[in-house]
Amino acid sequence: MYRLLKSLLFLLPPEQAHYFGMNSLKFILKIPFLNRIFRFENISTVEFCGLTFKNKLGIAAGFDKNANYITELIAIGFGYVEIGTVTPKPQEGNPKPRLFRLQNDEALMNRMGFNNDGCDQVVENLKKHLERDYIIGGNIGKNKTTPNVDAHRDYRICFEKLYPYVDYFVVNVSSPNTPNLRELQDKDMLVEIFDSLQEYRSLQATYKPIFLKIAPDLGQEQLEEILSVYNEKHIDALIVANTTIDYNVLNHDKKFALDQKMGGISGRIMKNKSNDIISYLKSKNSNMKVIGVGGIDDKASADEKSNLGCDLIQVYTGFIYRGTSLIQEILASKPTYA
Ligand SMILES: Cc1cc2nc3c(=O)[nH]c(=O)nc-3n(C[C@H](O)[C@H](O)[C@H](O)COP(=O)(O)O)c2cc1C
Repeated sequence: MYRLLKSLLFLLPPEQAHYFGMNSLKFILKIPFLNRIFRFENISTVEFCGLTFKNKLGIAAGFDKNANYITELIAIGFGYVEIGTVTPKPQEGNPKPRLFRLQNDEALMNRMGFNNDGCDQVVENLKKHLERDYIIGGNIGKNKTTPNVDAHRDYRICFEKLYPYVDYFVVNVSSPNTPNLRELQDKDMLVEIFDSLQEYRSLQATYKPIFLKIAPDLGQEQLEEILSVYNEKHIDALIVANTTIDYNVLNHDKKFALDQKMGGISGRIMKNKSNDIISYLKSKNSNMKVIGVGGIDDKASADEKSNLGCDLIQVYTGFIYRGTSLIQEILASKPTYA
């Protein structure tokens, strides 16, 4: 069924298709009989960092930036939803067009630039989910106009405001579309951000895990720094990885990507980059907790991440190309741990 829907959606520009598709799903799920068609039976829950996830498969950050489609994403089978990236103040993001389908590579290229309604509005949207049996993660970032030296303040603002409404946090320092954001992956900057968030958390009655989302383009030296921050700051888990700016991963659409000049690439062509980083980190610390994301587009690629030791996984681009059939394929089977 998604094949037919996809041929219609792909007639629209990608961003329009996104909102049209999700608003249509919202409408369909209000029809009493139809809201049952996606139910899954006997899916194993996952315990991770003290939280119980309905299943291991989440929708990655960027898909539901403003927490508008959580109910629908859970209804079609996702085990959890990571909202955001949310910034303190609302911002429009980069000029359109800023999202491209690279269909020959089954990839996406985006330079959205953290378009979002700001954390006050997102909090209002999250208030509809106070009573729930599913996990919501809050992926947080800084406004474009905030200089890196003050970035820790932006993360703290989002953290404090969202704290009562989400179950875990993600410090996103790895989007390629906010100028210089990736410099926040340097040790000193990370320590400053985590010190501030952990200080606030230590004063709260409930402990909420904080994850760090990293880029797939980090060299060995930078990965060593990440490892040392992970250990020193007792970071709860890493999310590996954000989109790549290495256009060499593209087999067919490299020239198009190079002509665009700016944007992160996602989808199956970045799978190996993401897996290589996960393997490297796990080889250094086999107990490290990692959520695997990047290039999952079938059961085999989902199992690859599980076999690398990722208890949780996430998808974005695979879902655009394969729709709900991808969720069904991944969840209908047990992961085969090596
Ligand atoms: C259009 C688009 C927007 C995204 N926005 C965000 C974002 O706001 N924050 C974030 O941490 N990751 C963002 N991502 C990255 C995804 O969460 C994910 O890490 C990446 O796409 C790799 O997974 P995939 O190959 O399954 O797409 C975005 C990805 C896409 C395609």
